[in-house]
Amino acid sequence: MKHLRLALVGCGQIADAHLQEMRKLTDVEVVGVCDVHQDLADQAALRFDVPHAFHDIDELLSQTSPDVVHLTTPAHTHFPLSVKLVEAGVHVYVEKPFTLDAIEAQRLIDIAHKCGRLVCVGHDQLFDPAWMHCCTLVDQGAAGDVTHVESVLGYPLSGQFGRQVTTDRNHWVRKLPGGLFQNTISHPLYRITEFLTDERPAVAAQWFMANADATFPTELVVQLRGERVTGALTFSTRIEPQRTTRIYGTRGALEVDLDSQVVRRIRQSRLPGAFAKIEAPLRQCADAAGNLKRNAVRFLKGEIHYFSGMGELFERFYQSIRDGAPSPIPEAEALRVTRVMDEIFRQCRGENEFRRTVGMNAQPVELIHRRSSDETSVGEHPSNERSLAAARQEVHP
Ligand SMILES: NC(=O)c1ccc[n+]([C@@H]2O[C@H](COP(=O)([O-])OP(=O)(O)OC[C@H]3O[C@@H](n4cnc5c(N)ncnc54)[C@H](O)[C@@H]3O)[C@@H](O)[C@H]2O)c1
Repeated sequence: MKHLRLALVGCGQIADAHLQEMRKLTDVEVVGVCDVHQDLADQAALRFDVPHAFHDIDELLSQTSPDVVHLTTPAHTHFPLSVKLVEAGVHVYVEKPFTLDAIEAQRLIDIAHKCGRLVCVGHDQLFDPAWMHCCTLVDQGAAGDVTHVESVLGYPLSGQFGRQVTTDRNHWVRKLPGGLFQNTISHPLYRITEFLTDERPAVAAQWFMANADATFPTELVVQLRGERVTGALTFSTRIEPQRTTRIYGTRGALEVDLDSQVVRRIRQSRLPGAFAKIEAPLRQCADAAGNLKRNAVRFLKGEIHYFSGMGELFERFYQSIRDGAPSPIPEAEALRVTRVMDEIFRQCRGENEFRRTVGMNAQPVELIHRRSSDETSVGEHPSNERSLAAARQEVHP
């Protein structure tokens, strides 16, 4: 098995989860980390016993010659840094969201093909054990033909990252065309698009603020309609943390709760009248026993982690590189999800909606967006134009 040299760029919040999972895998070694802030790179190297730390990506490349780089930098840097890496002959695991918009996504895919390098977007929850168990049940027909998928992300702003975004008006997340949502909704969205496979589903989206004190949109509701399957995505800062999805079909439904690692079946009782009221809770007890057994076994094996899906996706990505096979998250899917996100933010940023939400009492910040003479940018607001180059300068002090 080919031994792979790994590196990571961007030693912020999510970097630790990556480094932890990378270190668990065999036939790989983490050869270097990099952050524009040398102290963050040094600290990450120290925590995870990585031999080299850099503040310059060119130095990382020339001194460590990695086969694969994990890109855990802010969303607007994903495109330029991924392009730089594939052109340097490196395979790239890029965190979600894939790129700032679909135009960048298509360009990156084309450039990666030309360079013969793989790019894998971090849709890691597709490899979460509870999600995979749920999908197995769906494949076995537990819900019948899937017709509707509901995905919820509860994201109170009292969390560590939420507090940073709320208190720092210049936080990079607030400058994305889709704001907080662009950094967060990939996960609940791709849990829907797994089943809603239309190339361009119809989208109806609205964002708004949780209350009068909010300074940026904090709530998002989206409806999706494909030929056979519909979807509903809810992002809320007003509910407790949760990552749940319900998959409805012609013969019942399945609910997966990624935080509790629980999969529940919902279906009509086959028994008549009052007997059904006994059968339903009995069935729920049986489901609960199955969930308890699965989780207890994983607990005893030390396999329960918040980012369990990540390690699995890394391993599959590395194997694809060794086998010369396609990325475990097809590039076409990364592009499709990005396109749906573009449409969501385009609708939410519509002039009227923008006035009704942001314009009322929020202080709009300047936005990051891609600009070039021949293309329009997604989510551009005339009074908030800002070039990506300028934004990059900000994260490259
Ligand atoms: N898979 C998940 O569940 C998950 C969870 C959290 C974040 N993420 C994603 O990971 C990415 C990073 O998020 P975060 O929360 O860690 O952000 P963060 O702001 O905490 O960290 C980003 C780091 O990147 C560094 N950086 C910025 N530009 C750089 C450059 N050009 N070169 C080198 N370093 C650079 C910054 O200095 C910072 O340390 C985002 O795309 C986010 O959506 C994914």
